[in-house]
Amino acid sequence: MKSATIRRAFLAVPRERFLPEVAEREGLERVYQDQAIVTVKDERGTPASSSSQPSMMASMLEQLDLRPGQRVLEVGAGTGYNAALLAKLVGARGQVVSVELDPATARGARRALANVKSHAKVVRGDGREGWPPGAPYDRIIVTASAPDVPGAWHEQLADGSLLELPLRLPPGGAAQAIVTLRKQGDALRSEALLHGGFMPLRDAPGGPVPAPLPTLSATEQIDQRRQSLASLSGAALRRLSAARRQRLLSLALSEPRTRGLGLRAPRGALGLYLTLEAPEDRLVGGWRRPGVISQNGDGVALLAGGAKTLTRIESYGEGDAEVLLLRLVEEWKDRGRPTGDDLRVEVRFRGGAGSVDLSWEP
Ligand SMILES: C[S@@+](CC[C@H](N)C(=O)[O-])C[C@H]1O[C@@H](n2cnc3c(N)ncnc32)[C@H](O)[C@@H]1O
Repeated sequence: MKSATIRRAFLAVPRERFLPEVAEREGLERVYQDQAIVTVKDERGTPASSSSQPSMMASMLEQLDLRPGQRVLEVGAGTGYNAALLAKLVGARGQVVSVELDPATARGARRALANVKSHAKVVRGDGREGWPPGAPYDRIIVTASAPDVPGAWHEQLADGSLLELPLRLPPGGAAQAIVTLRKQGDALRSEALLHGGFMPLRDAPGGPVPAPLPTLSATEQIDQRRQSLASLSGAALRRLSAARRQRLLSLALSEPRTRGLGLRAPRGALGLYLTLEAPEDRLVGGWRRPGVISQNGDGVALLAGGAKTLTRIESYGEGDAEVLLLRLVEEWKDRGRPTGDDLRVEVRFRGGAGSVDLSWEP
């Protein structure tokens, strides 16, 4: 349940004004589905800009604890929709500046914001450098995922204030968590964590979105219908020979052996634990279907279940993958089933990007 203030902001800002082409082409019904809508792709077809999922935006705004009169920096203006919501939440006495890397996207966001008479301002630049002319900020919100925390965000944030960002975990890795950090002197310390993911920050406008993780996938396309049959991704695949990788994919296309977990584990909590605790050279599957491969790559075991819970292990091929996955699940249970709320993130700054330290609350 979101607070009345957040609800009022969403009621006051029409999303279709920030997605005029989608509204024109696909109608208001599409615009008001609770889904992210991709607006720009790079030359390889990878999404490079989007209007984020509204329920995720609402949760992030809620965590940011905005107050009238605050000065806010957004990194990643995209369509400008979130900047307009930020401007509503800080009111006429507040200030919102949003940095966007891509010039055409920045122009579109400016047009849309002018159209709804928002006072949020869009500037063109690399958001990893923040926007020094507007500093110090009471709030910084990043709407693309970052492999680390640039020093500029720490420097430009007022002491005691909040930075919210989708951080890749383990630092620079495949999974993500949206963390809200409070500045305390030369450190930022987590106050809250949401499960979810954003497209990565880029280095240059028009440049490629950072390469995805090594991925094995099999897809069938019959007439207009395209469907994924199997997909495994993870840095662990890199250490396998091409022949091993192909065999692993063919195994993932076969019927799995199924074993119940005997519990309904919250997907975000157990997925996060596995991502952080499984050995990096064994972890596959990413956020949606986390799992591990066996030591020599001749088998894989994945967690499976419903949209919100994980209830079973699906194993393919030989090796120790299932044993390792079961051990990690048992460990998670023994440690009191930690969730994102039990993960402490601390970022320390001594010049340059901060060093990130992760630990579970005892
Ligand atoms: C998910 S979209 C942001 C959604 C946006 N807040 C909205 O309400 O529509 C991510 C945006 O970050 C931008 N971006 C990527 N790398 C960037 C960088 N280094 N600096 C600033 N913006 C960047 C992308 O061009 C893209 O528009």
